[in-house]
Amino acid sequence: MAKLNWGMIGGGEGSQIGPAHRLGAGLDGEFAFAAGALDHRPEEGKAYGRRLGLDPDRAYGSWQEMLAGEKARDDRVDLVTVATPNATHFEITKAFLEAGFHVLCEKPMTMTVEEGEELVHMASHTGRICAVNYGYSGYSLVRHMRAMVARGDIGKVRVVVAEFAHGHHADATDADNPRVRWRYDPAQAGVSAQFADCGIHALHMASFVTGQEVNKLSADTVSAIEVRTLEDDAMVNFRMDGGAVGRLWTSSIAIGRQHGLGIQVFGETGGLRWTQEQPNQLYYMPLGQRLQVIERGEGNLSPEADRTSRVTVGHAEGMPLAFGNIYADLAEAIRARKEGRTMDPAANLYPRAEDGLRSMAAVFAVAESGKAEGKWVDARPPMFR
Ligand code: NAI
Repeated sequence: MAKLNWGMIGGGEGSQIGPAHRLGAGLDGEFAFAAGALDHRPEEGKAYGRRLGLDPDRAYGSWQEMLAGEKARDDRVDLVTVATPNATHFEITKAFLEAGFHVLCEKPMTMTVEEGEELVHMASHTGRICAVNYGYSGYSLVRHMRAMVARGDIGKVRVVVAEFAHGHHADATDADNPRVRWRYDPAQAGVSAQFADCGIHALHMASFVTGQEVNKLSADTVSAIEVRTLEDDAMVNFRMDGGAVGRLWTSSIAIGRQHGLGIQVFGETGGLRWTQEQPNQLYYMPLGQRLQVIERGEGNLSPEADRTSRVTVGHAEGMPLAFGNIYADLAEAIRARKEGRTMDPAANLYPRAEDGLRSMAAVFAVAESGKAEGKWVDARPPMFR
């Protein structure tokens, strides 16, 4: 079976997220890395692309060159990943969707709700995939949690508790460092800093695992380091459309916390908890029984978990493999379209433009509520009200 062609924009040498995408996309041999505009500096981007093995004529100096070059080819890329800084996502994603490419865009998908709605409409009328990289939803045991909740293992969900709290911006003496400062500057970051960067991962995880969407929220936001305009810590209460109550804490000043993403779901007949830093174990407690540790790679978990587990039980899998599962979903989605068949339902779990849009609506709701001392506000995008 011929490999699909994959291209990347951003993710240049030294970038944070580029390597995880290249590892994830290459994992199953589904995608060949065929084209890239990897850096905002054209010559550095071309040189790095060639070092990574791209043909010189497909190591482009800019995304505009890549769009023109790939459009003209018979073997054009089947999927483009956009891993550039946030403010560029909308323009690049829109241009590639319009030209008929499938896109995987990094989060946050856009800077405004209106842009998010435009991408949802564009994906729908072009019939192209517009996926968003909530990559942690690719973890095998996160998929298993979702399957357990859906099949009723913990009964009706009462409370979901999500966290994404790290301590990497906690040093007040480093707050003026340009690599940190821009994140808390509304002119560059938009209406929210920590919630838009990390909180949306936790919120997406809460929806993904419970199968419920957020209706309204109330936020207590703070700039613990006083020179910052935007928040570096937020506590968000929310209500979901299936009746679940949500609690979310996100922080960048939690000294001693490293990555800090985790989720707990409490239902009428059981509880589940999982953290990103120990992703190969899922803790499950059925009401009135003993606590159980579910190991990734045990046989006969759900089809969604079995499909996304690659190495045998007891050997650690980590974040690039979770990204690999998003790529595996997308490969299946693209192949199913090419072959005119229905895709494997266990693979039909990749986050979509609708999820990116819901996140943007939540970002604006958190900013509004935070300014109004925690007033409850509608967190749904206008098109889903
Ligand atoms: P970074 O600053 O480390 O790297 C950005 C890269 O994009 C650089 O190589 C830069 O040269 C390149 N670039 C910038 N403008 C470009 C343009 N116009 N055309 C081509 N290349 C361009 O940023 P980082 O941390 O890798 O973040 C990139 C995106 O990924 C952000 O949107 C961020 O929110 C997201 N991200 C997502 C994560 C996840 O878990 N899903 C984790 C970390 C980041």
